[in-house]
Amino acid sequence: MIGQVLEGFAPVHHAPPMLSIRTETDTTAAGARAFDERVRRELGLPPEAPPVEYAAELKFDGLALSLRYERGLLVQAATRGDGETGEDVTQNVRTIGQIPLRLFGAAPDLPALLEIRGEVYMRRDDFERLNARQRERGGKTFINPRNTAAGAIRQLDPKALADKRLSFYAYGLGQVQGWAQPATHSATLDAVAAFGLPVNGLRRVVAGADGLAAFHEAVAAQRDALPFDIDGVVYKVDRIDLQRRLGFVTREPRWAVAHKFPAQEQATRLNGIEVQVGRTGKLTPVAKLEPVFVGGTTVSNATLHNLFELRRKGVRVGDRVIVRRAGDVIPEVVGRIAEPGGARQAYVPNFRMPRACPVCGSRVLREKGGIEHRCTGGLFCAAQRKQAILHFAGRRAMDIEGLGDRLVDQLVDGGLVRTLPGLYALEAGALEGLDRMAGKSAANLVAALARSKATTLARFLYALGIRHVGEATAKALARHFGSLERIMTAGVEPLQAVGDIGPVVAQSVQAFFAQPHNREVIAALREAGVHWPEPADGQADDAPRPLAGQTLVLTGGLPTLSRDEARALIEAAGGKVSGSVSKKTDWVVAGSDAGSKLERARELGLPVLDEAGLRALIAPAPPAPPAPLPPPPSLPPPPPPGADNAGLVQPEGPPA
Ligand code: IVH
Repeated sequence: MIGQVLEGFAPVHHAPPMLSIRTETDTTAAGARAFDERVRRELGLPPEAPPVEYAAELKFDGLALSLRYERGLLVQAATRGDGETGEDVTQNVRTIGQIPLRLFGAAPDLPALLEIRGEVYMRRDDFERLNARQRERGGKTFINPRNTAAGAIRQLDPKALADKRLSFYAYGLGQVQGWAQPATHSATLDAVAAFGLPVNGLRRVVAGADGLAAFHEAVAAQRDALPFDIDGVVYKVDRIDLQRRLGFVTREPRWAVAHKFPAQEQATRLNGIEVQVGRTGKLTPVAKLEPVFVGGTTVSNATLHNLFELRRKGVRVGDRVIVRRAGDVIPEVVGRIAEPGGARQAYVPNFRMPRACPVCGSRVLREKGGIEHRCTGGLFCAAQRKQAILHFAGRRAMDIEGLGDRLVDQLVDGGLVRTLPGLYALEAGALEGLDRMAGKSAANLVAALARSKATTLARFLYALGIRHVGEATAKALARHFGSLERIMTAGVEPLQAVGDIGPVVAQSVQAFFAQPHNREVIAALREAGVHWPEPADGQADDAPRPLAGQTLVLTGGLPTLSRDEARALIEAAGGKVSGSVSKKTDWVVAGSDAGSKLERARELGLPVLDEAGLRALIAPAPPAPPAPLPPPPSLPPPPPPGADNAGLVQPEGPPA
């Protein structure tokens, strides 16, 4: 373990010893107050004495090192070991680019001896890169940056260190000769930084308990955004003379304390593995854990991502595992803990991906060479149906207000909605029987459904939940092809002619529309009244794009076009819609109650159009109403087993 001296490294005696710090486990502001009170008491300060000044720093989560500089040259680097005796890791430390081999400054000004104490750690991005490389090579992934850094610095074979980039922060001093140390800890660290050692900038001199508590809170808020892991903050009495007066209890200074944050990693037992089905049918193994308090909440489920990740981590049901929950990220199992004394046996997994979807029983397939297992049930699968409906209703898709998780659960579980078009058949009467659906909410939902029918081609495409088609791709498709019919009949090559669309996306779009099932759903949605403005003959890229390169601003209500419809028309004609009027605006389209934007347009002398003017600008001929969808090809092949409810079906590859 970390505190032992490894055979193979020469022992290094630490004089003075490398101390540890007392840990304040109360992670609230009370922890900071308790420390300040103790310091004041031990210094014998009366209540009216001014606040004590503290150096407040980050508590880096790595491994302590002591660096010995003689006349400015790095001569030795040692781990902490048991505090008295550590290991000589000079060769390994010399490979850390951030640690200078020679201190800055002219030789006569350099201390005869300066021992720098600090923490070697691994940045999160370096850790992620390392694990990504491990995955590529099919190697084992590392659990966390801390263990990786600690392991790397104590590698006997320097070659094994080559791919692990380590970093370092100095936080204090050991033995010093021939140098007048500044009177405060904070000024000492400034001097250490001037010698060329990395000192973290997120340190402050604060006054009293309030200053400590504010620092703790401010750092906690930034914790997840930092490029490296910390497990708390450290407070040190800033004045060195006061530090001397306070002295030590056993191996801990009375003048410092580590004030922790809630741990983001915890060990617990893996009781089982369940499989969850997502919107696109992806199966995710989910760890069922012995509940554990981590990252500020009790966690009993954590993702294992996919079967390959699970195997790489060598996790088995029954193992003790490490669970990580950082910020808003979903909790994950990062690895297993070897049982003490238990010899590491060959890994024999005791979990398999099911062959049939746990929700609907459809076949589970994995694309050749892919890592994801998927249910082939499409919208026949209740899990996928729920997720697909939620996606369809989303704010950036069809924007059906009020259609959330709970309601969708009830609609699908109660058999009220089996398909996307089925949503538009919902009536207030049927809804009123549901939980939390009083008369008013039911009527509101019906109204929201009706409103959502007027949409744009891009939103509709996005709402369909075609694999790999996010919002930006949906917009690009809509703009390039102009009409749904053109997209539906485009082959893979024309699809790839759209900027940013590669073979994978083109294949997915083509395969989606090739499914008769999906065509039926689209036809049914249009029959239910879903519509969007669509120029008569489509607006393919080779068609004239009269607004290419022009920026328009919409203001006020137009007589027949909604804001989204007007925007879609403009974008289909190659124009851009901007939210604000400037000298760069080419046209302002104004309707009723146009306000300040119209005034600004007049000030700038910009041309102002009404809706008729806009239509004339785009196409001399008035746009025709939306064309009906061509009938599906004659005699469509039968839908997948059980999928006779007109669901959208995702194409699947052959089993690998
Ligand atoms: S000061 C006399 N400052 O936390 C005080 N330690 O038990 C000596 N650590 O393993 C330590 N960040 O490596 C100090 N800003 C910081 C620190 C820090 C991390 C580690 C240290 C040691 C443990 C203290």
